[in-house]
Amino acid sequence: MTTSIAGLGTQEKTTAGRAVISLRGVEKHFPIKEGAMQRVAGHVRAVDGVTFDIRPGETVGLVGESGCGKTTLGRCISGLVPPSGGKIYFRLTDADAATLDDIDATPDDRRTKEQLAQLQRIDADHRIDQLGGKAFRAYRRNCQVVFQDSFSSLNPRQLVKDTVGRPLRIWKEASGQELTERVVSLLESVGLGRQHLYRFPHQFSGGQRQRISIARALALDPEFIVLDEPTSALDVSVQAQILNLLHELQQKRGLTYMFISHDLGVVRLMSDRIAVMYLGKVAEQGTAIELFESPRHPYTEALLAANPDINAETSEMKGLRGAVPDPANPPEGCRFHTRCPVATPICGWEVDDAVAWLGTHETILAGLTGVERRSNFDATLAFGDAAAAAAVGHQVENGDIPASMKAALESFSTDGNKVTLTFNPEGPVELEDVGGGHLTACVLHTSRRHRI
Ligand SMILES: Nc1ncnc2c1ncn2[C@@H]1O[C@H](COP(=O)(O)OP(=O)(O)OP(=O)(O)O)[C@@H](O)[C@H]1O
Ligand code: SF4
Ligand SMILES: [Mg+2]
Repeated sequence: MTTSIAGLGTQEKTTAGRAVISLRGVEKHFPIKEGAMQRVAGHVRAVDGVTFDIRPGETVGLVGESGCGKTTLGRCISGLVPPSGGKIYFRLTDADAATLDDIDATPDDRRTKEQLAQLQRIDADHRIDQLGGKAFRAYRRNCQVVFQDSFSSLNPRQLVKDTVGRPLRIWKEASGQELTERVVSLLESVGLGRQHLYRFPHQFSGGQRQRISIARALALDPEFIVLDEPTSALDVSVQAQILNLLHELQQKRGLTYMFISHDLGVVRLMSDRIAVMYLGKVAEQGTAIELFESPRHPYTEALLAANPDINAETSEMKGLRGAVPDPANPPEGCRFHTRCPVATPICGWEVDDAVAWLGTHETILAGLTGVERRSNFDATLAFGDAAAAAAVGHQVENGDIPASMKAALESFSTDGNKVTLTFNPEGPVELEDVGGGHLTACVLHTSRRHRI
């Protein structure tokens, strides 16, 4: 999109010796239930080990294709759903963050009594699922959310006066005439006014409804707001107005934002730093300038090539093979390897990749009768007859198999109607600093690159 607001996210920020939100290995796995007994058959790994900090006054942009876990992460941070693993801290000082990271790097059985006492104190004071009393209340009021769909997030039967005033009433901040005047002041801060107090949501345009949602989020004067696609449902000109409003409010109130969007143009405009998510993990993160001008991760490059709008309606992106894999069964190694145009032999090739490749030879795949899997990297494929197994061998030997997948094979053999293949096992590709706080999870740039 094009708007008249340039470089909103590039102003000097205070960092104040602490973060507002600190994520450490945050996970959210949703159970997949099956049958009359609702047996848990697996888990959707919506968020799968996310670590980063959000500093006071900054905007962290979160981008990625539909289903990569952006909203789920936003909901975990704002306390709407509990994470199933990892830890989320509120207002962690830099000193405590350093202590925490030291303790986390120490194996459980080697932690000293002093470390355990420090951990207990830090968790009690800052970890959102362990906060009590005053600290929990401070977190709840300081962490607010604005959703994409203002229509469903506003109660259709509630007057604007009641919607915007609700947090103030619940927190017993104001009542009667004082409450009304506080609501008027909030409405004025988002470009609405007293004349809108006694109207219902359906009596407003989309942009105005989003202003009401923002006013409600501001009611308790929070420090931090998760903005989940706040302008995606709006026309381009209205988008620009809302983005300008968010920027002005940030300046006036010293707000910190996590800005979720699939529109890279908007994210670039709004963000100081950006985290790119793929299948529940952060693939790359860095300043907005670094990420746009020198992306390191091939997935980020693909997103930028699809600029400005990652097509959120379809899972296909130009230049990438296939669709986003199932988050209940994510690929080994680098999660992006099934689609990566420059994948190497050490990116985590596995049995499923070989079976998917057989899918391009429909006649051979049709003969596949079973897969005996010893691990994701090691299996025996059984075919209806020896000719089909021999055809697989022929394809592998004659180079039809992608070169990097072939190089990842530790062994390959055929025996009658069976094909046994073993890939070199590879662990997950973790984020590493490639300079100046720019992190990427791609073996082309990280410590594993000497093995390519
Ligand atoms: N309550 C839930 N139960 C089960 N699975 C869920 C639930 N909420 C989300 N998921 C799954 O978790 C994954 C991540 O979903 P999420 O809504 O966080 O993605 P997103 O990045 O926000 O996508 P979009 O850009 O479409 O908004 C998806 O596979 C989704 O189907
Ligand atoms: S590690 Fe890098 S090269 Fe390998 S698949 Fe992932 S993004 Fe591609
Ligand atoms: Mg979402």
